[in-house]
Amino acid sequence: MIPIDEMATFCKKKGFVYPSAEIYNGISGFFDFGALGVELKNNIKQAWWQFTVRSRDNVVGQDGSIITNPKVWKASGHVDNFADLILTTKKSRTKLRADHFIEDELKIPADGLSAKDIQELIDTNKLTYKGEEFEEIRDFNLMFQTNVGASNDKEATAYLRPETCQSIFPNFRLIQEHNRLKVPFGIAQIGKAFRNEISPRDFLFRSREFEQMELEFFTDPQEKTCPALTDVHKNTTFQFLSAQEQDAGTNKMETVSIQKLLDKEKLTEWHAYWLSEYYNWYTKTLSIKSENLRIREHVKTELSHYSSATFDIDYNFPFGFKEVHGSANRGSFDLSQHEKESKTNMTYFDEAEQRKYIPSVIEPSQGLDRLFLLMLYDAYDDDNERGNIVLKLTKSVVPIQCAVFPLLGKEHLMAKATEIYKDLQQEFTCTFDKSGSIGRRYARQDELGTPFCITVDFDTLENDDVTIRDRDSTKQVRVPVAELKERLRNLLKENIEFS
Ligand code: GAP
Repeated sequence: MIPIDEMATFCKKKGFVYPSAEIYNGISGFFDFGALGVELKNNIKQAWWQFTVRSRDNVVGQDGSIITNPKVWKASGHVDNFADLILTTKKSRTKLRADHFIEDELKIPADGLSAKDIQELIDTNKLTYKGEEFEEIRDFNLMFQTNVGASNDKEATAYLRPETCQSIFPNFRLIQEHNRLKVPFGIAQIGKAFRNEISPRDFLFRSREFEQMELEFFTDPQEKTCPALTDVHKNTTFQFLSAQEQDAGTNKMETVSIQKLLDKEKLTEWHAYWLSEYYNWYTKTLSIKSENLRIREHVKTELSHYSSATFDIDYNFPFGFKEVHGSANRGSFDLSQHEKESKTNMTYFDEAEQRKYIPSVIEPSQGLDRLFLLMLYDAYDDDNERGNIVLKLTKSVVPIQCAVFPLLGKEHLMAKATEIYKDLQQEFTCTFDKSGSIGRRYARQDELGTPFCITVDFDTLENDDVTIRDRDSTKQVRVPVAELKERLRNLLKENIEFS
């Protein structure tokens, strides 16, 4: 696996991601997505939306504003609790995220440790940063603040949302009523989130502006069974790191099934259902290698203020297994808080049961930028035999679906290739490349993940057929131009094998 800085260089060179405003030396924790990056990102979003919203009867979407009434963040607990501990060195006043510093220095998990615990570890191990001692540990709230309107008064303070999903809760009743939804149902949202991370690092993994794809799924707190939970969910098997293993410091992973976690009463049936749904979406729809994934149970001290149980899906990056997806049981925390602070009734009336209640919430939360990075890592293959990198991205998300090459720059070949390219462009994301040898052009497309390259040669002028070349096997087949679109459609949907 290439180190993260090499991945950042690859992404920049190939037009996926740039440091934001690089001509001014960028700004730490912010990135701009280039031509290829924006296509890949949009395709991942579309795949998630299709899986989460469009393919289901009981999930709808919303698109809330980034800045909202600050009372939302008071009610949600973010004003008081959404903070990391910060260490400041005495002389140079360098600021470090305390848990990351401990993890780096002592190689132990430190997320969720209290200021007292961290201070003890620093004292016992006589830790310093480049020889400097630290001031007293402080809380640092991660929300970006701004002012709404022309006033600088405290009352005008507002926040850039630190999580995308929160605006779903204040809208819960409106959306439920207007769409005549019955519990259990979900509301999903994709959008930007902002966190003033103390030390952004590892390229897209920990940035200050990122996108989240989140689902809030509302269930009856008295109903313990999930009718949607099938044997496929129960038998889903994965590498698992339990809270007990982490607490004991042994950190041994085991292979378990969702059923085993249910038997141990680690999670509710609805929670099990959603965890399994997204794990299978990763491995089946996105074709992510299961040996690179694990599910990790949060230990008690690291649970977010709103969660009673959280499981992360982690990916094995070059900097270790790290969270890409969080699956939390938020219970009735958010709706109850908004009911209290807004003095608005947030209960749901269950007609069938003739009962009023505040629903309980399961939240699968997906960071888009981390999934983007994961997909690049999982697809990246430095192929020695070919002498170039091959980005073996799953076909449903590739930034470019096909490339058209005229064999030579001769007028007739160019005209025919352009005609085919223009036609394909109506339906596929397509590129045209006439420079360099065909081998060089294949290599260029391999590095961008383009699954199919179409060469227009002298036989095309005679027989009206073209050569399609497959990225993964490098095999080539001859296809009549009249059948080209249908063939590409089926190849991209993986309805047919390349042969
Ligand atoms: N609404 C729940 C929530 O926000 P979280 O675990 O703090 O939970 C959810 O974040 C997901 O958002 C993470 O699994 C990760 O993929 C992504 N994420 C969080 N912080 C991030 C950051 N600084 N940079 C990039 N992605 C981040």
